Amino acid sequence: MSRRTLAVVSAGLSRPSSTRLLADQLAAAARDELVRRGHEVELHVVELRDHAHDVVDNLLTGFPSTALRQAVDTVAGADGVIAVTPIFSGSYNGLFKSFFDVLESGALVDTPVLIGATGGTARHSLALEHAVRPLFSYLRAVVVPTAVYAAPEDWSGGSADGALRARVVRAGAELAEQVDRRPPLGGPADPFALTTDFAQLLGRRED
Ligand SMILES: Cc1cc2nc3c(=O)[nH]c(=O)nc-3n(C[C@H](O)[C@H](O)[C@H](O)COP(=O)(O)O)c2cc1C
Repeated sequence: MSRRTLAVVSAGLSRPSSTRLLADQLAAAARDELVRRGHEVELHVVELRDHAHDVVDNLLTGFPSTALRQAVDTVAGADGVIAVTPIFSGSYNGLFKSFFDVLESGALVDTPVLIGATGGTARHSLALEHAVRPLFSYLRAVVVPTAVYAAPEDWSGGSADGALRARVVRAGAELAEQVDRRPPLGGPADPFALTTDFAQLLGRRED
């Protein structure tokens, strides 16, 4: 058995948030499939609402607060990411985009990502394909084929029902499969870790 970490990023602004609800259900589906495959799973939720001011400060100053640094490291060090945004004006919301703008370049290369969105109308479901998927393709993440959109009529008493439930389960299984294929990353990156072997470093200095 080996441990896998999933970072669950939710950019919902309301409380309670339907975006967070969808994110939790996607996370549960991915976790269940990873457990079925024999892994221990750690879920780390990153509520972007809690980091909204710090994200803007980071964009202005170039420096993250301690809490934002932790959130960024959680996402960069995860074996898989579930990224869910509310649709604003036909696209991801500004907070979602700004958070991924403050990640170091290369942080998500080859990371399996499951994308989801909530909206006020089912007519905007393709925003996942024309806005959210290209963002993660640009970041060179591995976005799983099933993206999950939830409109108000998809919810039944606070849980995914019918077609939405089926998509959640399928998307979770696709993410789990991609995570299962890769060796574990070992959690959030240690900022003080040596990136080069110490003996090798000494050897180079003697040249
Ligand atoms: C500024 C703003 C713009 C929005 N634009 C859209 C939109 O273009 N399409 C859509 O389907 N819903 C739109 N919505 C509705 C939200 O996407 C929807 O209510 C979402 O589920 C809210 O998520 P939350 O409950 O996690 O905050 C908009 C809401 C706001 C506040």
